[in-house]
Amino acid sequence: MAGTVTLSINGLVSHLEVEEDMPLLWVLRDELGLRGTKFGCGAGLCGACTVHVDGAPTRSCITPVGAVAGSKVRTIEGVAADPVGRTVQAAWKEIDVPQCGYCQAGQIMAATALLTSTPVPTDADIDSAMAGNACRCATYSRIRAAIKRAGG
Ligand code: FES
Repeated sequence: MAGTVTLSINGLVSHLEVEEDMPLLWVLRDELGLRGTKFGCGAGLCGACTVHVDGAPTRSCITPVGAVAGSKVRTIEGVAADPVGRTVQAAWKEIDVPQCGYCQAGQIMAATALLTSTPVPTDADIDSAMAGNACRCATYSRIRAAIKRAGG
């Protein structure tokens, strides 16, 4: 059903005329031009589309935009405005994490959510928080190192 959905995205309030069952990922990429958030599987399995909804890591490909009306959404484009996100991005650069890079926005969003709730995560915390974020280049050891750097 079409309607007006109001969202705060990276601190800016948007009133969107969209179908309420449109996936949040489509709204971000196609309606708002925020293409840093990636489409991977489209089925909630790979984590490439991870954004924050009211601080929680969320699969935007399977989240109808109407279900998050009134929420605060943060994407990779806005992550540097968050102190933890800024630290995570800096650690990602220092460790030189990405290979192809496609999954990395989702990885950074997941890592930022982890470090916000658990500033000094254990290996088990990292495994648990990052298990749903796949990387086909298998940069997992660098992802872990960057999270430890950011959390140290
Ligand atoms: Fe959303 Fe894979 S694209 S989880």
